[in-house]
Amino acid sequence: MSRRMVPQLEKATAAGVLLAFLGACGGEEPVAPSPPPPPPDPVETSREILIDSVRLVADQRNLDPLDPHDPIRPELVELGRMLAFDRVLSGEKDISCMTCHLPELGGSDALSLTVGQGGQGLGADRIHPSGVFGPRHSTTLFNLHLRRSLFWDGRLEELEDGELRTDAGAHLTPEMIDVFEFGVTSAQALFPVENRQEMRGGSDNPVGALPDGAFTAVWARLMDRLVEFEDYRALFVAAYPGVAFDDMTFAHASNAIGAFMIEGFAMNDTPFDRFLAGDTTQLSTPALRGALRFMNEHRCMRCHETDSFQDRQGDFHNSGVPQFGPGFSDEPGVGDDLGRERVTGDPADRRLFQVPPLRNVELTAPYGHAGQFATLEAIVRHYNNVEARLREYDVSQIPPELRGTLLNNFDEILANLDTLLIPVRFEEGDAGDIVEFLKSLTDPRALTLDLAPDTVPSGLPVDRLTGGRR
Ligand code: HEC
Ligand code: HEC
Repeated sequence: MSRRMVPQLEKATAAGVLLAFLGACGGEEPVAPSPPPPPPDPVETSREILIDSVRLVADQRNLDPLDPHDPIRPELVELGRMLAFDRVLSGEKDISCMTCHLPELGGSDALSLTVGQGGQGLGADRIHPSGVFGPRHSTTLFNLHLRRSLFWDGRLEELEDGELRTDAGAHLTPEMIDVFEFGVTSAQALFPVENRQEMRGGSDNPVGALPDGAFTAVWARLMDRLVEFEDYRALFVAAYPGVAFDDMTFAHASNAIGAFMIEGFAMNDTPFDRFLAGDTTQLSTPALRGALRFMNEHRCMRCHETDSFQDRQGDFHNSGVPQFGPGFSDEPGVGDDLGRERVTGDPADRRLFQVPPLRNVELTAPYGHAGQFATLEAIVRHYNNVEARLREYDVSQIPPELRGTLLNNFDEILANLDTLLIPVRFEEGDAGDIVEFLKSLTDPRALTLDLAPDTVPSGLPVDRLTGGRR
């Protein structure tokens, strides 16, 4: 049987090895080399070929173990940890950053769409009494030190000249930016606290009473809350030696939360990284096959192309995923999500989304910008003929309350499907191999990540998922 990926091979050097691999694994009996003694074990031989092929292709793709982050002052991390877990930053004091980014769930929440302010419970059990969902899936927080843009649409980004582009406009002053030590990650916490659905709540609390978009006033009111706690004053002063607490702004809080997220969620000692560093025992044979399918055959690495498997240029793409839920639009009630277009205003950017990083992706189901896919298998299968898969999207994998909100806009979504994906087809078994490869991107430490402090300075309850992952 001729396999259609062969013409996609990009370098003659890889082709020889890969053809040998395909011959050995393409369903036919491996050809054992002619005797003399002792005949090599055909399984071992094909594994050796696979190992060589994966190394060769990884080398061609310049794939290296992830760079670590620079050391960070422990005092800054500790301040950030307290703030990230402290519900005091929400209007009604009922939700913290970590409610939606639980370390036990890889910095996500196990929900398709988030349940913000006013919700109850944690992880998969979290519900909102009035059925309110956020517009998008909560992203993982792994390896943020490598990020140049955040959010599914990259609306918080570092531009080429080093400037930060954010939704806060002139509210984000040069003095605040001077405080930031970790680029976009330092700025991230400035936004959920202003967002009513996520943290700020309605006008009957002092933070929610401020008008929409009044970022500066919201940040100031939160600092007024923090100053009440002696422990916070001490933590801030320890985190920023030489700066008086009165001279600090919410930028100092946000920068500290960034420090905590980088330090707490740096997880890149994975079997695949160890393989790249030379330990060939780390990958199972299916994972090796999956690595080749991912890196070469099925074009995955045309978008997931950096060491952390993001787009190298920071470009955004339309991978043809369905849309449901409240949507993300400046016009209320639209129910659609135009992705990058909302940020740039360019219709060519319609429904383009950030290419998510994939280290530890096994731990952050569901997948996609609205959590459209319940399992890794489901999102990998989506890539096998995207048009057909989108049209037969299985709505039973999302929460019952959301099923009726699935938009029937498949033609529109497919109208600017990334052309890279149009010809991709593969066999069932390939999906399983790719999933095995993706699982080799899990740092074992991430399975037992436990970052929650026992208490926070405000004394409010701390979000910790008892019983861990399910
Ligand atoms: C109600 C749930 C919720 C809360 C509370 C929340 N987030 Fe998020 N967070 C999200 C969602 C959803 C996204 C993706 C939103 C988007 O792309 O538009 C996100 C995105 C992020 C990202 C970007 C990651 C990436 O890969 O692009 C970071 C970092 C982050 N949040 C940190 C925080 C911090 C810090 C706080 C507290 C100040 C916080 N979040 C509070 C739900 C939440
Ligand atoms: C055209 C660019 C492109 C190609 C090619 C591509 N992806 Fe993606 N990938 C994306 C984008 C964009 C998203 C986010 C999709 C969304 O929700 O809008 C994504 C999401 C994912 C996710 C979910 C991650 C998460 O945290 O939610 C996985 C897993 C994934 N891709 C694996 C693959 C595999 C496997 C292949 C090859 C079969 C592949 N991708 C090919 C662009 C691409």
